[in-house]
Amino acid sequence: MVKNIENSGDLMSLLVEAAAREMKVAMQYMMQHTLYIGGDSSILKAAGFVASHRSIFLPGKSLKKIAITEMKHAEAIAERISNLGGKPPTETGPLMLGKTVAEILEIDKAEEEFAIKLYKQIITTAKKEGDIITEKLFVKILSDEEEHHRTFVSLLTETK
Ligand SMILES: [Fe+2]
Ligand SMILES: [Fe+2]
Repeated sequence: MVKNIENSGDLMSLLVEAAAREMKVAMQYMMQHTLYIGGDSSILKAAGFVASHRSIFLPGKSLKKIAITEMKHAEAIAERISNLGGKPPTETGPLMLGKTVAEILEIDKAEEEFAIKLYKQIITTAKKEGDIITEKLFVKILSDEEEHHRTFVSLLTETK
């Protein structure tokens, strides 16, 4: 339970930033997933890279799955914002898609690194304010982001 909602300005702005970020990456990853990029290696070319109608993807299938997870994160965070009396964001930053497989993965790896940093900050702030619900929510989301980061790092290694 939040001890003092009026004094939670910092936490609230972090939550709004987090929700906007989740909305952005949900769309970014989904749009990247729809790209067809032949890729710079024969493996990627054979795999077709992305597009949901293909049976083998690298890393398209992963991107689609992760995009859906990010949308669920956006929902959960926005619900928490509403519960705390705030307003969920209505805008996201511009999407960055990238032009090659390696570029996409580098962009997305950086997105996850930013999320991990931000969510650790949210966990610390929530803990300080005695907001256990927000703290628990972000511990769970953070573990997803760490998994996404590992996925992008390992796909990047495969593309090299
Ligand atoms: Fe997320
Ligand atoms: Fe993520």
